[in-house]
Formats: sequence, structure tokens, C-alpha cells
Amino acid sequence: MNGHKLTELLNIRYPFIQGGMARIATGTFAAQVSNAGGLGVIGSGSMEVQHLEANIRDCKALLEPGRTWAVNLMMMNPHCDDLVEVIIREKVPVVTTGAGSPAAYVSRLQEAGCQVWPVIASPLMAKRMARLGVNGLIAEGCEAGGHVGSFTTMSLLPQVIAAVDLPVVAAGGIVTGRQALAAYALGAVGFQIGTVLLAAEECPIHDNYRERVLGARLEDVVTIGRIGGTATQMLKNPMTRAYLKMEREGADWETLERFSLGGLAKAVLHGDKDNGAMMAGQSVGLVDQVRPLKDIFAGLMADMDQGLHDLLADWEAEGPWKSTDTI
Ligand SMILES: Cc1cc2nc3c(=O)[nH]c(=O)nc-3n(C[C@H](O)[C@H](O)[C@H](O)COP(=O)(O)O)c2cc1C
Repeated sequence: MNGHKLTELLNIRYPFIQGGMARIATGTFAAQVSNAGGLGVIGSGSMEVQHLEANIRDCKALLEPGRTWAVNLMMMNPHCDDLVEVIIREKVPVVTTGAGSPAAYVSRLQEAGCQVWPVIASPLMAKRMARLGVNGLIAEGCEAGGHVGSFTTMSLLPQVIAAVDLPVVAAGGIVTGRQALAAYALGAVGFQIGTVLLAAEECPIHDNYRERVLGARLEDVVTIGRIGGTATQMLKNPMTRAYLKMEREGADWETLERFSLGGLAKAVLHGDKDNGAMMAGQSVGLVDQVRPLKDIFAGLMADMDQGLHDLLADWEAEGPWKSTDTI
């Protein structure tokens, strides 16, 4: 549509990037995603050097020849400088970045042959990243699971596309092929997904977490940390209720951080339904079955095809708006 093809830019089969989910996206999971045809991404958000090295080893051991893979670098990770050295040494082909500006690393990574795709949540940040010469952008709307900005995918995506001359991937709220098709209609070259992958057979989360994802409705999703500027989207539970109460009562940032520390690990590793941060996005209500990754990707593509086919048929048969001519 805009001259860029994500599948060619990243050498992947399907135009889907797996969100770099900290504590969930292990090296093994990333390799499984890449082998299934998407871009698998190791989520290094909570990792130190040795941990990332071990995950890269796991990923490389499982990866089929010719598959592209990536590492997600969270700028708030205090070990970023050292992780970048690992990424360069291990010849990681693609890096996605989140939670801040990767300005300090872009040119070094690119000189080492690594593509850099920052996740951004505003057109202003998109322009800043474009000036750094990044390879492409992932525009993430506030429908997404995990840390979120303020703007919806519907509003953010076309305004980012208008602001920069770069390929833009849509993220936030994409669980079905029809949602991907809507983002494609707005000019996205591909899609980053997180929430739908929580239900993948291969996804290494505790069964309690997966069960909550499968049973969740839109009304079960809540954002905590908006007041302190660390907005994070997840499923409601006693922890989120207590957090929001503390937030309303004016608790300071350190108190809130201490309170929520380790919440994702409690959810992912221990399945703690009451105290865990069971991160998920606003389209979680559309996730209702556990499937292997290859079926999730095939399903997304088939749903996109069918969606486009239905739209064109409807258009040909005079869309509903055309009937106004006869009134
Ligand atoms: C459980 C979970 C953890 C996440 N952790 C990270 C992370 O560590 N780094 C990051 O850049 N994005 C993270 N995200 C956001 C995803 O990378 C992705 O952009 C998002 O899930 C897309 O929206 P969706 O959840 O509606 O599919 C996380 C998302 C989820 C659901």
C-alpha cells in the first residue's frame, strides 16, 4: 500500500511481529514464533547479560535455518549498555525498543548490521526516531497489554504514518485478522501482537494466567499507574484494586513501585491470581482458545483474507451507505 513490505524488510513469512514481552518471551518462545512464520522477539526487559546470553543460545539452538529473530530492549532496564554489547556480539538481526528513546544505541546497532524498530506511542516520538534514522516504527496504541501510552491505535497510527517517511507497524488491540485488516486500511505495513499470543500452546505462562486470559471480557481490563506516568494494562484482581485505591489516595511513586514490584513474575511463574500483574490488552475478550502458534498465524491470515473478501463483496453489492441515494 505504501511501497513497503514487512515480510521482505524482515525476511519473514507473515507480517506479524511478536511483542517483546518481558518474562514471557524467552529465547525458546521467540524461536518458536519465528519458526511459525512471524518475527520472534526475545523480551529482555528484566534480563541481565548472562540471562540474555542464555536465552539467545536457546533461541539459536531451536531456530530453523533462514529464520529472522529479534531482541526487545527496554530502555528502563539499567543493564541496557551491556545488553547492547551482547546484541552486537551475537549478531542479532533486529532490535525492537520500548519504554524510552534508543538514541544512544541506534547508530552502533545499525553499523553492526542490526535493524532498529522502536515502539512509539506518539507522532512526536515518531519524528524524533525518524531523525535518528531507524529502520521502521511500531506505533503502539493504548489498547495494548503491558506499558501503554495515551492514544488509541485508530488515532495514533494514521498520524504517525503522516508524520514520517518510514514503514510503520501497528500494535495494540490486534487479536483478529479483521483488526489487522483495519490497521492495514490505515496504512500499516504489518502488525505487532502480544495479547493473542498469551493463548498460544507454546507460550510459557502459568495455567492460571492463561485461564484468566481465556475467560476475560473487555470489562476485566484495567490500567494502573496512569497518575504516576507508568500506565500499565492488565486484568483486574485484588492487587489492581489495591493499587488504584492507593493511587487515588495520593500514594507517592516509590510506594506504588514497591507495591507492584515483581507483579509480572508472580503472574507468569506462579500463577498468582490475586497479587500477580496479569498483563493483557483490551482485545483480550476476543481470545477464547488455546492454539499452536502456526494455527494462530494461519488463522490471522485467513481471517484477513476473508474480511477483505467480505468487504469487497459488500462494496460491490452497494454498501449500506449507497442506499441513501434512493431516499
Ligand atoms: C504480558 C505482556 C507483556 C509485555 N511486555 C512488553 C515488554 O517487555 N516490552 C515491550 O516493548 N512491550 C511489551 N508488551 C507490549 C507488546 O510488545 C505489544 O506491543 C502489545 O502486546 C500489542 O498489543 P496487544 O496486547 O493488544 O496485542 C507486553 C504486552 C503484554 C501483553
